[in-house]
Formats: sequence, structure tokens, C-alpha cells
Amino acid sequence: MVKVGIIGLGTWGKNLLRNFSNLTDCEVLVCCDQQKEQLKKIQSIHPDYRYVQDYKEILEDKNIDAVVIATPPESHFEIAHQAISKQKDVFVEKPMVLKVEDGEKLLKAAEEKKRILMVGHIMEYHSAVLKLKELVENGELGDIYYLYATRVNLGKVRDIENALWSFAPHDISTILYLLNKEPKRVTASGQCYLQKKKGIEDVAFLTMHFDDGVMAHIHVSWLDPHKERKMTIVGNKKMVVFDDMQSGGKIWIYDKGVETKLDFNSYGEYLSLRFGDILIPKIDSSEPLKAECQHFLECIRDRSTPRSDGKDGLRVLKVLEAAQSSLEKGGTPEEIKT
Ligand SMILES: NC(=O)c1ccc[n+]([C@@H]2O[C@H](COP(=O)([O-])OP(=O)(O)OC[C@H]3O[C@@H](n4cnc5c(N)ncnc54)[C@H](O)[C@@H]3O)[C@@H](O)[C@H]2O)c1
Repeated sequence: MVKVGIIGLGTWGKNLLRNFSNLTDCEVLVCCDQQKEQLKKIQSIHPDYRYVQDYKEILEDKNIDAVVIATPPESHFEIAHQAISKQKDVFVEKPMVLKVEDGEKLLKAAEEKKRILMVGHIMEYHSAVLKLKELVENGELGDIYYLYATRVNLGKVRDIENALWSFAPHDISTILYLLNKEPKRVTASGQCYLQKKKGIEDVAFLTMHFDDGVMAHIHVSWLDPHKERKMTIVGNKKMVVFDDMQSGGKIWIYDKGVETKLDFNSYGEYLSLRFGDILIPKIDSSEPLKAECQHFLECIRDRSTPRSDGKDGLRVLKVLEAAQSSLEKGGTPEEIKT
């Protein structure tokens, strides 16, 4: 039985607490939030746990095996690093930390202390993304030409990190997981409309360029009339659309493409369009967060490497840092640090 402490009980921490509370092979012992009011609210729903305002009490507690960190990103490094030094296994929400340098330190600490370090890249535990991965890996889509993702809605407007750091980790982690390779270069642009003085971008467009010519584009915004969570992958055999806003039929596989003929008389004959069937596979509707929490517990039990481990967190962080730098320079291409 893994004994867990949860730090940060805001919008997302509540969901993590609900999931860990419902899993049989784990016991939540202590919950922490620095705001007393927040603690009281959660305590009224889950009265059985111990509640503390200072996360160090969790780190000092010898009965706790693992900590789950769902505080705002600026505190992730400090809390996760201290937790590892106190021999705790760590699940930290995305983005893992805010600087590549800190990410590297965290990885090194986890390796030295032989601790599990897992990042909350929830999309890697989504059944639809697992289906996409299968389609990419079994060659059904053929060679991937390009991908694009949209993650927009109205709110939640954050006042520390921008829309890029808040939303894009989901799509960056999904794309790197699907393609199983890292981009060479990133370009990004964005704009601050609501919090100009603070310099917090509400909207960002970023493009990752890979060595083999594959391109992946991401549009994120919390200032948009639609709630959209969509990804399109275009391969040379088939194309696929993943629409996470659909309750059924999240994935549509289009047997569409453009074929080149060897035997042709005119340019019109050289390229022929193919409009084949559309397949909508059945996708398991279980909660991705539950699968993610369960995976963390399994990795602790088996001492195995999480799918979204510290290295994955660092890969995503490198893209975010380069994208932020490109954005600040008005969209100039930035090489990804290796
Ligand atoms: N995986 C997802 O889909 C998803 C969704 C939303 C948020 N998140 C991530 O979860 C994290 C938290 O986001 P949120 O929306 O819940 O934020 P939030 O502001 O709603 O909640 C954060 C909570 O942490 C508490 N806190 C801050 N510093 C603390 C400290 N030092 N010690 C103890 N408590 C502290 C705050 O009082 C607050 O209650 C972020 O990293 C965010 O990116 C992930």
C-alpha cells in the first residue's frame, strides 16, 4: 500500500485527491494547501485525512512514500527537489518546472536518490492518444507529414504563467509521445491582451520543426469563443482527427490521400486524390487522470520508469523554453537545446 501526501488542493489538486482516494492500492495520509480556507473546503468533503498548511510537514513524515504536487508551476522545482532529497517518490503536475536548468537538476537528483519522478502529462494516459500512438506505430497512417492541435476556450485566465506554459504542455507532450522524436527548431508568436502590463500572453501559436521535415503546429488560448481540444494528423496513407470534445467518436480515421501515378500523360493524371472510407473506432471512455494516477502507483510498486518520466518532462520543457524565447523575439526560430 503506497502512502501518499498531496500538496496543492486547488482546481486540479482536488481531482488528484479524488482519484488517489478511490484507488485501492494507495492510502492518502496527509493533504496540504497553504490557504486555510481551501483546506477547510476540502476537509468538509474528505474529513478522514490529516490537513496541514506547510508542505514540509509532509516531507518530514517518515510514513509518506510519495508526494503529489499540484501547486502553481513556480513552486514545482523547490517542492519536488526537497521531496526527492527526503527520499519521496514524486508526481509533479505539468509543466515539470519553469527552467531547463532546474529540470536537469531535478532529474539528476531523482537518479542519484533512485526516486520515481513522474510528470502530469495526462494526455499520454488518454485512451484516444493511445489509439493514435497505435495508428502511428503500426504504419496505418503511413509516413507522418504534419500535425496540428488546437486547445482554446474562454478562461481560466492565469496571472503568472501565460497560455503557452499553461496549455501547450498537453499538446507538446502528446506530439513528442506520438512521434517518438524531438524537434530541432521551434518558432512561436503570441500576444497579451488582458494583462499587458504583466506581459502575460493570452494566445500563442507555436510550430515545432523536425529534422525529417515533419511539422507540428499548436494554437493555445484562453481568450476564445469556442472550447476546442482537437488534433489532426496527416500521413501519406491516411489522415486522422482526434476531437476530445466529442463524448463518442473522438477519433475519425480518413482513408484519404493523394497518390502519384508512375504511368501518366498529363500533370492532372500524375496526382490522383483518394476519397475512401471513414472509420470511427470505439475508444475506452475511462478517465485519463485515473489511469495516470494508477500508473504512478504501479511505477512505485515495480520501481519502473513512468511513461511520462522526468526525461519526458525535460523534453517538453526544452520546447517550452525555446518557444518562449522565440515568442519574445517576435517569432524568430530557436534551436532546441540538446
Ligand atoms: N493535468 C491537467 O489537465 C491540469 C489541469 C489544470 C491544472 N494543472 C496543473 O496543476 C497545477 C495547479 O493548477 P491549479 O489550476 O489547480 O491551480 P490553483 O491555483 O487552482 O491551485 C493551486 C493550489 O496550490 C496552493 N499552493 C500554492 N503554493 C503552495 C505551497 N507552497 N504549499 C501548499 N500549497 C500551495 C494554492 O493555495 C492553491 O490552492 C499547475 O501546475 C497546473 O498547470 C494540470
